[in-house]
Amino acid sequence: MENNALFSIIHAICEKNNIKGIKHQAFIDRLIGNGKLLYFLFSQLYSKREDLESVFYQMLELIIKAYKERQSQFLKRDEQKHKGGAWFLNRELVGMSLYVDRFAGDLSAMPEKLEYLQDLGVSLVHLMPLFESPEGASDGGYAVSNYRVVDKRFGTINDLKKLQQSLQEKNMYMMIDIVLNHTSNQHEWANKARQGDTFYQDFYYTYNDRAIPNQMEVTMPEVFPESSPGSFSYDEQMNKWVMSVFHNYQWDLNFTNPQVLKAMLDTIFFYANLGVDILRIDAPAFIWKQMGTTCQNLPEAHTILQFIKVAVEIATPGMAILGEAIVAPKQILEYFGKGFFTNHECDLAYNATQMALQWDALATTDTRNMLANQHTILQKPKGTTWINYTRCHDDIGLGFEDHYIEQVGYNPYLHREYLKNYLGGRLESSPSSGDLFGVNPKTNDARISGTLASLCGLEKAINKNDEEAIQMSIDKILLMQANSIFLGGIPMIFYGDEFGYTNDYSYLKDPGKSYDNRWMHRPMIDWKKNANAKKKGTVEQRIFNGLQNLLKIRKGHSVFDDNNNLQWLESHNRSIVGFKRILNEKQVFCLFNYSPDPQSLTFFAFHSIKYGVKKLFNLYDGSYTVIGKANESLSFKPYQFYVFSVETN
Ligand code: GLC
Repeated sequence: MENNALFSIIHAICEKNNIKGIKHQAFIDRLIGNGKLLYFLFSQLYSKREDLESVFYQMLELIIKAYKERQSQFLKRDEQKHKGGAWFLNRELVGMSLYVDRFAGDLSAMPEKLEYLQDLGVSLVHLMPLFESPEGASDGGYAVSNYRVVDKRFGTINDLKKLQQSLQEKNMYMMIDIVLNHTSNQHEWANKARQGDTFYQDFYYTYNDRAIPNQMEVTMPEVFPESSPGSFSYDEQMNKWVMSVFHNYQWDLNFTNPQVLKAMLDTIFFYANLGVDILRIDAPAFIWKQMGTTCQNLPEAHTILQFIKVAVEIATPGMAILGEAIVAPKQILEYFGKGFFTNHECDLAYNATQMALQWDALATTDTRNMLANQHTILQKPKGTTWINYTRCHDDIGLGFEDHYIEQVGYNPYLHREYLKNYLGGRLESSPSSGDLFGVNPKTNDARISGTLASLCGLEKAINKNDEEAIQMSIDKILLMQANSIFLGGIPMIFYGDEFGYTNDYSYLKDPGKSYDNRWMHRPMIDWKKNANAKKKGTVEQRIFNGLQNLLKIRKGHSVFDDNNNLQWLESHNRSIVGFKRILNEKQVFCLFNYSPDPQSLTFFAFHSIKYGVKKLFNLYDGSYTVIGKANESLSFKPYQFYVFSVETN
């Protein structure tokens, strides 16, 4: 489409919708300024379709509708958020991911929990999926049967709106998911497809026989090989095979059909206009499929995300986009956008590589793999940021790259075997009690389930009533949290971890959950047990206060804003890893001992500090350390960490 033709379409459509005058100028500028880009991205995907221009026109209408429906309070917030640069880089953002029912009961009980969250230091709440999904076939809410109706288990859309208002009043933020890759097989679109409606059959990938599925499965990795092998399921009523990469009740949406993108963009705007601050795009790596490929991370998947990003930037710019791409380290980075689109795809991504590397270091007591991988992780573009975490509702994948494992002298196959055994409950001598998830005998792949506390040894220590082991596991929990909290980016605490919840095996008695051991680390919160956090010396108090202290430190120092101002230190002791964060004259050193034994590090590690500086201030316990000579050493207790501020006076 010609530039001029595009501009007259945009002007006409604005006119038709009464979007004119100074009041709307900023929006019109954004639309005109990005219209060409939007069209370019759209035509990259759908240039071969005859309806290209008519569906693009419908997309423009959607964008205008979203803007028109945006409440004035959110329009104001959009403006405010961008005043000081990208708002989500701020150190004051600390998230907690939680299941509303398991944490508070329902949505109406959430507002009264906000003070508690603020007291811990949390300012962003990630509400795990809330929209309707069939009980027993919900994948924890990631099989959505209605994107607009809150599941009655959690309450109503009004409860959600009230919660958003309460969060906003407290200067807190809300994050929810859009499950973009698939719907539940009980979604209205799936039901219509099943009844023979070809318009909706085209919303999914459906096949009359196994010919294409068989060919595609040759190159498509299985996501849930134990509970849902293969990537296609047979639907009896439709008498067709349907692509279902995750569980067989999760049908993959067909984004080669622009009507699917339109329907999902409309849903994205519906969420934006609920006042969502961060939209977590679930499983974006999977949204485009092509025969002969893994059907993951394809260029068109990125084009779709870029299209969404541009559309959101025009209509609802205050909402940031998080891409939940849990893929190979180099590929994760591509979700921040590359080339011309650097910084114009997802604003945030999960630092899944770092998370897995911290578990690697904990299991091996060797931090060299973590350090080697930073070469890749540090390539994050400025202006984007990470979600840093130690645990979440999903399993831990060991997806880091083989060549770095080799570089530090291990055999990648044996190394992963060891990690699976150590963390996955297969090694008698390991303090960890986790389990293997997604075991695939064909590829020998497996991931790991278990809570932070159980994987850090608390479950075994409590069972043995071994106080020394209990303290050691608390130290490990805080070490893991400290490492991810000080990295820069948004730390995302998983609910229950602030008290050290251990694995919950009751999911085994529920047939809707027993096939999925990720439920072992999705606890039911017992607020009576949590009250122990107020009693000095309890396990809960030691973990809660430690975490609270870490978050306070982070908020109190501007070096923790994420301005890509992090430098890893050279390794001097393989069990100790560290970095410094720098802002102008200010420097903070963060050092972590991943060993169960005392360790030491020569003061040479601090050689970059300005001559004449004599001491370091430990922000965690308020003590001072005098900087010794380069050949003298700083001692670490088992699993001890330091957060040192360099005292210049
Ligand atoms: C994401 C979710 C996970 C879910 C999957 C399929 O990875 O985090 O829990 O099973 O997508 O929706």
